[in-house]
Amino acid sequence: MMDSAKRPDRRCVVTGATSGLGRAMAILLGRRGGRVAITGRRAPMLDAAAAEVRQAGAADVLVLHGGVDDPAVVAGHHATIVERWGGLDLAILNAGVGGSNDPRAFSAEAYRDAFAVNFFGVVHWLECLIPGMAAGGGGVIAGISSPGGWRGFPGIGPYSASKSALSTMLESVRIGLRGTGVCIVDVCPGYVKSEMTAKNDPKHMPFLMETEEGAARILRGIDRRQRLVHFPRRLTWPLRHVVARLPGAVFDPLAARFGRPGAGE
Ligand SMILES: NC(=O)c1ccc[n+]([C@@H]2O[C@H](COP(=O)([O-])OP(=O)(O)OC[C@H]3O[C@@H](n4cnc5c(N)ncnc54)[C@H](OP(=O)(O)O)[C@@H]3O)[C@@H](O)[C@H]2O)c1
Repeated sequence: MMDSAKRPDRRCVVTGATSGLGRAMAILLGRRGGRVAITGRRAPMLDAAAAEVRQAGAADVLVLHGGVDDPAVVAGHHATIVERWGGLDLAILNAGVGGSNDPRAFSAEAYRDAFAVNFFGVVHWLECLIPGMAAGGGGVIAGISSPGGWRGFPGIGPYSASKSALSTMLESVRIGLRGTGVCIVDVCPGYVKSEMTAKNDPKHMPFLMETEEGAARILRGIDRRQRLVHFPRRLTWPLRHVVARLPGAVFDPLAARFGRPGAGE
């Protein structure tokens, strides 16, 4: 277990902290007494989340309204944090959207929308974060991706493709940053209760987990600086080591039969 004084949560940002995993992680970081910045678009909900983070015990809470899909907004958020705290030790790039599309009514817009948040929302933050962290002795950056990106699951092409791109990019960046002190963590949770999964049929979400439990497991993986955080293992291990490796001739008919829009998000 990491000594609490060495935990990378002294100055943290959590993107997409209005609801779900982001909000729950921000509250947990508040309980650790860190300085916590939170971002999101729905102002009243973000302000309510900030009150909870403060109440949890955060040393300072910074509320940053706006979307991760706009690089100018992200640059402004980052500049505000640096001005107030001098830099960041931990960034949890969590903001994300679902993305379904029936390819028989193929929609480029559905792909643009998913990539704008799930991929470029992280890329915009990395561009701001990496130089300061590398120059300042390091830090931890976690991107919240998904097992939905481990294969092309039917019905959720925009989601699958954007998370697949995200995980691949995080891996490439992690290796390129070796020796700089900047640690990159790829997080791929199974099903966790949130606004996003509330739209799915629970029957199609095996081992659905409470939000707080999911948030705690993500923070544990980040504390350990795991390259890849994935859970619950009874779902993600077979997905990663069996389903992700099946030949197309086996995967295609199985996925066509069992894959449903929304499942895997
Ligand atoms: N729950 C699961 O089972 C599960 C599984 C695997 C991966 N994930 C990933 O976990 C992350 C959190 O999702 P969640 O399940 O907690 O869903 P959620 O409750 O819908 O949370 C999504 C968060 O992202 C924010 N967001 C959306 N678009 C944004 C934008 N353009 N700019 C800034 N923030 C934006 C939302 O806030 P605003 O709308 O106020 O901006 C909200 O706070 C996502 O990346 C998701 O893909 C979730």
